[in-house]
Amino acid sequence: MHANLNTKQSPPKNSKRYISMSFTNTFQPPPLSQDFKDFLSTLPRKKIFAKEPLYCYHYQGFWYLEGVLEAVISCQEHFQAEDSDVFVASTPKCGTTWLKAIAFALLNRRRHPAASGDHPLLSSNPHDLVPFLEIGLYGSSKALDIASFPSPRLLSTHMPHSSLPESIRSGSKCKILYVARDPKDTFVSAWHFFTRVGVADFTMAEALEQFCEGLNSYGPFWDHFLGYWKQSLENPERVLFLKYEDMKARPAAEVHRVAEFLGCAFSAEEEEGGEVDRILELCSFEGLRGLEVNMKGKLMVGHAENSIFFRRGEVGDWKNHLSPEMAERIDRIVEEKFSESGLCL
Ligand code: A3P
Repeated sequence: MHANLNTKQSPPKNSKRYISMSFTNTFQPPPLSQDFKDFLSTLPRKKIFAKEPLYCYHYQGFWYLEGVLEAVISCQEHFQAEDSDVFVASTPKCGTTWLKAIAFALLNRRRHPAASGDHPLLSSNPHDLVPFLEIGLYGSSKALDIASFPSPRLLSTHMPHSSLPESIRSGSKCKILYVARDPKDTFVSAWHFFTRVGVADFTMAEALEQFCEGLNSYGPFWDHFLGYWKQSLENPERVLFLKYEDMKARPAAEVHRVAEFLGCAFSAEEEEGGEVDRILELCSFEGLRGLEVNMKGKLMVGHAENSIFFRRGEVGDWKNHLSPEMAERIDRIVEEKFSESGLCL
């Protein structure tokens, strides 16, 4: 029943033991190799609204910023999945941080019951505990050492399913948790995020143009959602498709689904003892956002402020930002792209 509970290593003194770091605060990404620059020059590219000239490159049907693309290709070439691996996958701003926290709390609850005063989620941002393949591991800093990860390895990616390394797609029995979200809220969340981190310099109307063309990092969103949706129907034991809105509406039921999917369903004792509610509280928007580490801390890789991952945490915030015409434009794409798939967002 608890086949996948992470019990193989003794409890770490602090959460840093989950990962091994080898970067410094002064790290600058190394220049792109000439080979990679030559390869980039063969790809379609488009300029996106940004403070510095910034291009997205079209690779295997999706748009990537150049640094991300280099990491994606490196990951495709080198990453070897293990059967016990668990991945949290998403397109940005769909609830990745939340799902990372939940997956971490579920898989590590033997070592770290949700109520424990030294729970790693109390002192580390979920992105530091569940790193992205194409940022921390294969990104330009190569800041993390995969060999030091405890088993089962809990990792993350924004890569579309069709571009995942072969060993994740079909060469292993690893599991993927995917979270999708109403694209209107995803868009609004992304606009705030990229504006706040200082990369983007565009109005919401300009950003919407690009979003509806599919021209955003890891876009188009519709193909990203559909790739994982299709896999969740064809391989339900390997890919679990979650929706942010369902997680908000019935968090306990969705956490049970995740636990069962990961092979670590709650025991009767845990149910009666209130472990489910404690995990929900620990991972809740208010719970995580209010922690000192998430109010004042910075990510270990990239050094973004942790607070940028916690904005409103609501369903339907798009109503405060999009005109009816803007909302309709996204809804028409959803209708056109998803109507035959059975996917409702
Ligand atoms: P908003 O910008 O709409 O508030 P991601 O984690 O994929 O980057 O997505 C970020 C979005 O998830 C943000 O949405 C953020 O506020 C919300 N979020 C972060 N942690 C959350 C949590 N524990 N519960 C619910 N929503 C959360």
